[in-house]
Amino acid sequence: MDVIFSGIQPSGSLTLGNYLGALRNFIPFQEKAECYYCIVNQHAITVPQEAALLHERTRNLAALYIACGMDPKKATIFVQSEVPEHALLGWMMICTSYVGEMERMTQYKSKARKEEAKEGFIPLGLMTYPPLMAADILLYQTTLVPVGEDQTQHMEITRDLAERFNRKYGEVFTLPKMWAPQGGARVMSLQDPSSKMSKSDDNEWATIHMLDDTDTIVKKIKRAVTDSLGHVHYDKETQPGVSNLMSIYAALSGKSYEDIERDYEGKGYGIFKKDLTDLIVGEMAPILERYHELTGSPELDRILDEGREKAEAKAHATYTRAIHAMGLYR
Ligand code: TYM
Repeated sequence: MDVIFSGIQPSGSLTLGNYLGALRNFIPFQEKAECYYCIVNQHAITVPQEAALLHERTRNLAALYIACGMDPKKATIFVQSEVPEHALLGWMMICTSYVGEMERMTQYKSKARKEEAKEGFIPLGLMTYPPLMAADILLYQTTLVPVGEDQTQHMEITRDLAERFNRKYGEVFTLPKMWAPQGGARVMSLQDPSSKMSKSDDNEWATIHMLDDTDTIVKKIKRAVTDSLGHVHYDKETQPGVSNLMSIYAALSGKSYEDIERDYEGKGYGIFKKDLTDLIVGEMAPILERYHELTGSPELDRILDEGREKAEAKAHATYTRAIHAMGLYR
């Protein structure tokens, strides 16, 4: 049976990209695999966070996981910082990493540039983000990691670190594979289709948040950039904006690009955008309703306590093997 691990940072309000690229795809695995779904708050603190807000977002993200259909009876749902083995194995993975390979990571480079411009310094945690992510995954002997396309390089380094450790100290870790969805693996900004839709975009029109109300979604899709060609056609080179909207449409409806092109032949962008809005609202409305029921509920704490216990048991077993292999014992 496959072992699935994935995580999302409680670093901002989740986007449609997070949903289509990751969260939505977590759910079907719980029927057929051993699943660990984590709220990776220790990754969130690789850039400055406000304590009260981080606390609130951590709980809210757990509620959102469950509102999306995650079943605590079938999947282990937990908070990263509550299972200390993540940080402990994270340190061992940092010590297995090379400065050069971390400096070459594209996500490190872009986040470092951004933080330096904003704060005047580069937090070291940004550089050690990938070995901590490797520890997350390797602790559970994970076989498959459902993530969006932007995580490809992090998954490659995770495999490299696992192989390097196994070669030097003996076979401790399973080599995990990345699993990315057919559609929705890279949702782009609604205002600049050459960049990824992101939680931290300063332009509010660029991003659809999972918690946006219907009115806001209508306005954001209306304002989404298209082009002057006027036909619904998939071509990322010549019609990047429309192609991005079509990829969201395809991911939500299950239709192919050819089907969508046929359905909207001779119709303008207005009708297409209206139908796309209906699809997004139709998907999000029931999630939102469940989410609001869950956020204040004590049930959430019971679920996360139980998740911590289950995660800890498995994580501890791997961690014990790893410290013995490395000679970190008396
Ligand atoms: P985070 O919180 O930045 O992103 C969470 C997930 O959302 C996906 N994603 C997208 N997918 C499609 N289109 C987009 N525009 C888009 N934006 C984000 C990401 O690919 C990711 O799957 N490094 C992870 C967090 C992490 C993790 C782990 C994941 C830490 N440890 C272990 C898996 C396994 C991240 O990027 O989180």
